[in-house]
Amino acid sequence: MTVIALTGAAGRLGGYLREALAKRADKVILTDRVSPEGLRANEEFRQAELDDYDAVHAALAGADVVLHFGAIADEAPWDEIWGPNFVGARNVWEAAHQHGIRRVIYASSIHAVGMYPRTQRIGVDTPHYPDSFYGLSKCFAENLGRLYWEKRGIESVMLRIYSCAQPNNERSLGVWLSPRDLVQLVEKSLDCPIVGCSVVYGVSANSRCPVSNEGAKFLGYEPVDNAEEFAPEILAAAKPDPSDKAQLHHGNVFATGDLGVSAVALMGRAEDGEG
Ligand SMILES: NC(=O)c1ccc[n+]([C@@H]2O[C@H](COP(=O)([O-])OP(=O)(O)OC[C@H]3O[C@@H](n4cnc5c(N)ncnc54)[C@H](O)[C@@H]3O)[C@@H](O)[C@H]2O)c1
Repeated sequence: MTVIALTGAAGRLGGYLREALAKRADKVILTDRVSPEGLRANEEFRQAELDDYDAVHAALAGADVVLHFGAIADEAPWDEIWGPNFVGARNVWEAAHQHGIRRVIYASSIHAVGMYPRTQRIGVDTPHYPDSFYGLSKCFAENLGRLYWEKRGIESVMLRIYSCAQPNNERSLGVWLSPRDLVQLVEKSLDCPIVGCSVVYGVSANSRCPVSNEGAKFLGYEPVDNAEEFAPEILAAAKPDPSDKAQLHHGNVFATGDLGVSAVALMGRAEDGEG
């Protein structure tokens, strides 16, 4: 019997994952602050605020593995992001420990290392260099997961997702993670027999990819999509601005925007998000 718990189940990435999870698991526990739509026969919704330990503990009861995708997926003021992203991560790992859950697969982000220059090809062992409170929350959760691996033996895979937004500019040609490749990345993270506490970048097989997954080959992740298919149309319309400092960082506008200010709003594509 395999029971998978998914936090952030009502969100966009949760929506990309649910069908594949429902096919492979006996039961999928969906948890979020709001109810996801259209529950399948083996999906059960358990409402929980991430910063409420008792609610998170109850939501994860009976799970074998947790996919922790719930969070504020944007830069936000400290008082807003602290509860869901920092306290929420602690609550998930602690509840996993209390329930004897063996593995947490975490939706981390490129913004844990977003201040690095885009011209520097970074790997899975590159030290943290957050670009925002949001990026800091991803560094915190990655370190928390490492602590729970060392002290409690809970395995983790930190998926440093770059961007699941539909490619629409020159930068996105390097950083896109297609929904299909996201599903594969999660499935490999579930199936790999031993992961310890690992980091892997969530990117498709983009010809212009600016990060290296060389150190995470053991996962067996072999992305199939390449944003190059969008290049002719995007580059024909592109008017790149070499003085745009955001373009010079892996973290894009998260790196150049002020602390606490929504980067998704700065990107002007709230419908897609990036996180
Ligand atoms: N979308 C991307 O391209 C991208 C990139 C990198 C990382 N990520 C990460 O992936 C995860 C999912 O991203 P998404 O794009 O699906 O975001 P989303 O905003 O669509 O989904 C996040 C979900 O978390 C839930 N949530 C927020 N605060 C909560 C709280 N206090 N208690 C309970 N639930 C709460 C929301 O209700 C929402 O359903 C996030 O952790 C995000 O940081 C996303």
